[in-house]
Amino acid sequence: MNYPSLSPVMVAATLAAVVSLAADRDSQPMKPTLTKATYGKLPEGTLIEQYTLTNAKGVTAKIITYGALLTELHVPDRAGQLGDIVLGFDNLESYLAGHPYFGATIGRVGNRIAKGQFTLDGKTYTLAQNNGPNHLHGGLKGFDKVVWQARPVRAKNGVAVRFTYTSRDGEEGYPGKLTATVVYTLTNDNELRLDYTAKTDKATPVNLTNHSYWNLAGAGDILGHELMLNADRYTPVDDTLIPTGEIAPVQNTPMDFTRPKPIGRDLKQLANDPQGYDHNFVLSRGDKQMNLCAVVHEARSGRVLEIFTQEPGVQFYSGNFLDGTLTGKGGQVYRKHYGFCLETQHFPDSVNHPNFPSTILRPGRTYKTSTIHRFSVR
Ligand code: BGC
Repeated sequence: MNYPSLSPVMVAATLAAVVSLAADRDSQPMKPTLTKATYGKLPEGTLIEQYTLTNAKGVTAKIITYGALLTELHVPDRAGQLGDIVLGFDNLESYLAGHPYFGATIGRVGNRIAKGQFTLDGKTYTLAQNNGPNHLHGGLKGFDKVVWQARPVRAKNGVAVRFTYTSRDGEEGYPGKLTATVVYTLTNDNELRLDYTAKTDKATPVNLTNHSYWNLAGAGDILGHELMLNADRYTPVDDTLIPTGEIAPVQNTPMDFTRPKPIGRDLKQLANDPQGYDHNFVLSRGDKQMNLCAVVHEARSGRVLEIFTQEPGVQFYSGNFLDGTLTGKGGQVYRKHYGFCLETQHFPDSVNHPNFPSTILRPGRTYKTSTIHRFSVR
């Protein structure tokens, strides 16, 4: 192939254009864009698409139709340098080979249901026990492992894609045909917004969430990240991670994140194995519809993640089961505590705890809940 040769004047002009483009990028908003590309193919032939959302400031989110799963999220650090701050893989095959729910949409019911059993309106339902004696994250083939239908939708201040999945009556043992949607919106204010809805034709529990693993430094362990949780109570668990039913104060325990502290500061006091946080925190709710859930700050990059939600709880999981056996994007080995999750949701095993906020959706009603992730630097 022949390349046109450039005179020194042309080189200088080109460089000047590149420099001024870079300057424009900082000062002037770019046009938000939304593109779609084929990401891979399931063994049975279904094509999986990846949507790329870029906002006016160059922040980029990528979501695939398999699991309505966030594969990449590039946000700026203090110097304006974009970095990918979620764990995941470079290709579909790695997601299909099995992983601990990286970036996925979780359903029909997020977190655990004790012994995979619950009784609703006098009828007992039996679900898969896919986590020791318990049911976890919707079962053997939860919403993280299904193909969602995707469609770009209009957003006032950014770009958005709606993902829809219809779960048949009896799927994974749950009653009722349930249609669930999640709209991912990337706003020009550097917010990633998740708006969920669901409708059913029979009463069923529903508890949708997103299982992104965050690492605001982009690599390494997350023990130095400073976390504030807007929660003065939590739900203690038994040794299979099922809530005992008690709602306990965090005060004077390692669970106290009411004032910001490094995730690793009190972690060594926890008695669980593998050691780390894997607890549901009861969010202190103000009078606003959208309440502050968490603020995370990573000092070296300067990145800040603030989470707002309509949910009553958040599962804070410090990546305790990551053990170095998975190699992710760019060859990164994911070791213990290399990412953390903040899963906004109803409390675990709510179906078996009448004192917890109810997760039951009935026909004729619409399940509706939103969570916002706002990114900035400090
Ligand atoms: C749970 C953990 C579990 C993880 C799966 C979290 O939501 O609370 O116990 O290991 O998901 O990766």
